[in-house]
Amino acid sequence: MQRLLEDKIAMVTGGGSGIGAATASTFHRDGAKVVIVDRNAEAADAVARAIRANGGEAIAIQADVSKEDQVMAAIENTVAHFGALHIASNNAAYGGGFKTVTAWNEHDWDSVNNVTLKGVWLCLKHQLPIMEHTGGGAIVNITSVGAIRGEAKMSPYSAAKGGVIALTKTVAAEYAQRGIRVNAIAPGGIKTSSIEAYFNALPEEREATIATHAMRRLGEPEEVADAVSYLLSDRASFITGHVLNVDGGMLVNPHNL
Ligand SMILES: NC(=O)c1ccc[n+]([C@@H]2O[C@H](COP(=O)([O-])OP(=O)(O)OC[C@H]3O[C@@H](n4cnc5c(N)ncnc54)[C@H](O)[C@@H]3O)[C@@H](O)[C@H]2O)c1
Repeated sequence: MQRLLEDKIAMVTGGGSGIGAATASTFHRDGAKVVIVDRNAEAADAVARAIRANGGEAIAIQADVSKEDQVMAAIENTVAHFGALHIASNNAAYGGGFKTVTAWNEHDWDSVNNVTLKGVWLCLKHQLPIMEHTGGGAIVNITSVGAIRGEAKMSPYSAAKGGVIALTKTVAAEYAQRGIRVNAIAPGGIKTSSIEAYFNALPEEREATIATHAMRRLGEPEEVADAVSYLLSDRASFITGHVLNVDGGMLVNPHNL
């Protein structure tokens, strides 16, 4: 039986850890050749090496998604190495810390938005022409439930993630007749180093956060990666401009359970 992403050339940004690393492994499992882009070269390399050790094809590219020249170089290197780019998950993001809205300064606000929102735009800007040129493709941008319900003490992050949803829908409309589907995934609490950083900064939030999920647990990075793989595959051929919550029921009301 044909695997979900057989012979696709697939890019994941922020692929050096967490959801991005799980996405890279899932892309390989589903038959794709994988490009792991991350600001952390060592982490990206380790993920690529693990895929190659497992019989797959993967390369690591160091790039900061908030810098246009580095995004362009990452995409040029992808095409130079694999000859095409068919699918991508724009997953890299930066939260910047935990403060109420009046405590943020302009520099930190800009730093969060430069990676979390502008970084997704820069990736789209340079991925779309390559995909269109090679006959079409699909993109999944990673947003957050924080964009939908708000996220106390994370105003620049939740605002940037809201921007990712608006950008996803806009680009989905622009490319619907040009062979490229663009969707977003909004994860709930997923077991990665970034949620551990959140619990370390606000220890009282651990149990409270788990309780906001109707399933009363955090998600595994692989549970998000499976949804990314599905939305990028031809099985999702009539889905574009959609935001899929992968959140264990965080956005339904678990009260009284
Ligand atoms: N973990 C959660 O609970 C959760 C919830 C909602 C949304 N998300 C989203 O899922 C995505 C992945 O999160 P995660 O928890 O796996 O994070 P993570 O911290 O484990 O991994 C993020 C990766 O992105 C890389 N990165 C950061 N800034 C970068 C930049 N400027 N350029 C290139 N790479 C960069 C990091 O080096 C790291 O490898 C993010 O978009 C995050 O906002 C996570």
